Amino acid sequence: MNDRVLVAYASKHGATAEVAEKIGQALREAGLPTDVLTVNRVGDLTPYKAVVLGSAVYIGQWRKEAVAFLKANEKALAGRPVWLFSTGPTGKGDPVELMKGWHFPKALQPIADRIQPRDIAVFHGALDQKKLSLVEKWMVKNVKAPLGDFRVWEAVNSWAAVIADTLKKGAVSKG
Ligand SMILES: Cc1cc2nc3c(=O)[nH]c(=O)nc-3n(C[C@H](O)[C@H](O)[C@H](O)COP(=O)(O)O)c2cc1C
Repeated sequence: MNDRVLVAYASKHGATAEVAEKIGQALREAGLPTDVLTVNRVGDLTPYKAVVLGSAVYIGQWRKEAVAFLKANEKALAGRPVWLFSTGPTGKGDPVELMKGWHFPKALQPIADRIQPRDIAVFHGALDQKKLSLVEKWMVKNVKAPLGDFRVWEAVNSWAAVIADTLKKGAVSKG
């Protein structure tokens, strides 16, 4: 039976993992059985009727394990309703504006075009100085990225609520 929802994610320092957990929690509270797993722990997509896939953004790219997951599962994803999200920008204001119009990794856009996700979201991220390597600290300082937790949980929850509504209405066919 494929009656479950999968929230799969790639996170280096934990901020994206918490966003994925929040989405999973909202879907469960809406009555949808949901698994939240790092992409590395996902096997077969057969048990899942829908997939939410997200990655942290590092230097404008998705994490390599998320890219590998997207590529390896393109066919299965194309046959299911899919939602994609990224977490990254720190600072206040519209996340896409903070990323100077960045919306999704350019190199992955052709795959997204074939999968036809229901939506591609960008959420604010978090930068915890204590978790960063020396090189990361240097890079973050160099681009003057604000440190701190800028995640907007209302934005994450309302995005998840739209996913839950769509799936519960049964409006899940592709195309
Ligand atoms: C070295 C480095 C590079 C980053 N590059 C970007 C970037 O290009 N765009 C962006 O919006 N955020 C960037 N970020 C911010 C992260 O995406 C943000 O901290 C995110 O929430 C991290 O998620 P994680 O804790 O799940 O790994 C960068 C952070 C670091 C440390």
